[in-house]
Amino acid sequence: MKILDFSGKTALITGAAGAIGKAVAQQLIEDGATVVITDLKSGKTGSALMSHYCAAKGAIISFTQALAYELADYNINVNCVCPDITDNSGVWTNVSAGYTVNLQMPKDEVVKKFTAKIPLKRLATVQDVAAVTASLASAGADYMTGQSVNITGGRECINL
Ligand SMILES: NC(=O)c1ccc[n+]([C@@H]2O[C@H](COP(=O)([O-])OP(=O)(O)OC[C@H]3O[C@@H](n4cnc5c(N)ncnc54)[C@H](O)[C@@H]3O)[C@@H](O)[C@H]2O)c1
Repeated sequence: MKILDFSGKTALITGAAGAIGKAVAQQLIEDGATVVITDLKSGKTGSALMSHYCAAKGAIISFTQALAYELADYNINVNCVCPDITDNSGVWTNVSAGYTVNLQMPKDEVVKKFTAKIPLKRLATVQDVAAVTASLASAGADYMTGQSVNITGGRECINL
């Protein structure tokens, strides 16, 4: 179903072979954008044992704000999405494998433990992330820039 009109627009998607990047690319194509793909072959709350990851994600939020300011004169909007744990994604596959070892739990128990903290009681899907990203890229979000939007089912990002 075509939700948004991106006719005549071109989007550059990095990491589009992976779960989230691929879903974003597919959603934008469905909505009419020409998509150019590149691939290689917690930023808002901290996560124990992932300090380097959190630091990198926090930097993306500041980067988004600075870039939004820099590009505003060119009428280019810059926004960021902050998903919580996203099912069937590369990052979650790797991280959950670590938690099954550290917590000595099978994967379905790990998922149950984390979804219990999410008000909407499920993990994010790649489609959830793609749909919000597409709406941020559409004309309906023309007055939004420099924002970092949670897609977390009501929970703060990645506070495992
Ligand atoms: N999966 C989650 O639960 C989750 C939650 C919050 C945030 N995120 C973030 O979302 C992003 C995507 O996560 P994912 O689970 O889809 O990852 P993924 O590992 O499935 O996919 C990442 C893709 O990026 C590509 N890539 C890596 N470096 C690149 C580069 N320099 N240029 C172009 N492509 C490059 C990889 O080849 C891969 O295809 C990551 O930044 C991740 O930290 C993921």
